Amino acid sequence: MRKLTYYIACTIDGFIGDPEGDATSMFKYTEGSYAATMAAEYPETFPTHAREILGIDGENRHFDTVVQGVASYRLALDIGITSPYNHLREFVATRSLAESPHPNVELIADDLVGRIRELKAEDSPLGVWLCGGSTIAGELIEEIDELIIKTYPQVYGSGMPMFGAGFEPRDFELGEVRTFDNGVLVRTYTRKR
Ligand SMILES: NC(=O)c1ccc[n+]([C@@H]2O[C@H](COP(=O)([O-])OP(=O)(O)OC[C@H]3O[C@@H](n4cnc5c(N)ncnc54)[C@H](OP(=O)(O)O)[C@@H]3O)[C@@H](O)[C@H]2O)c1
Repeated sequence: MRKLTYYIACTIDGFIGDPEGDATSMFKYTEGSYAATMAAEYPETFPTHAREILGIDGENRHFDTVVQGVASYRLALDIGITSPYNHLREFVATRSLAESPHPNVELIADDLVGRIRELKAEDSPLGVWLCGGSTIAGELIEEIDELIIKTYPQVYGSGMPMFGAGFEPRDFELGEVRTFDNGVLVRTYTRKR
């Protein structure tokens, strides 16, 4: 089985965005050696249009598939981008969007967990990236094998949690911890099963 990895940006207090999910206050930290390292190691996590602007043309290194909830996907759709991660296979969970806006984007309306299990069972050296947001991460919490948490040096006080899920302790084993000179911390955790 390949891994489902929730690769996500959050604040020190664990929020992935403001109460509506807006994470733009964190964007200023995507600079310097941190941005260069992530662009080199995770080039596929940058949107296709941003890669063109930033000159990122590396091959997919960790993921060949991305899964998003439709609220996250809409951030691109609302500015006319129908395939924000065109260099990956794109899946969008939605019960309200009737038709996919782009041939590269497959909609998942039914049995989200079952479809994710099918994707995980595929034979590929690269994994599946769970992009977010909170709602879909909460629904897929039991399927997540790995967390890569990019923590930015900000505190929100309140906001959108990393998981829209009920209370239940789940154990993860800490792997790599990386710190950057602009205060960003990137931690990798593996789910203990
Ligand atoms: N900090 C970060 O790195 C990061 C990364 C990604 C996103 N975000 C933020 O997260 C915010 C969005 O998060 P969110 O929690 O509001 O929404 P979301 O998880 O992106 O999308 C939720 C939507 O997904 C669909 N969905 C959820 N479960 C489903 C299921 N089992 N089957 C089919 N469809 C399902 C539903 O769409 P329908 O209503 O169509 O049924 C639901 O309304 C954005 O504002 C974005 O900025 C932050």
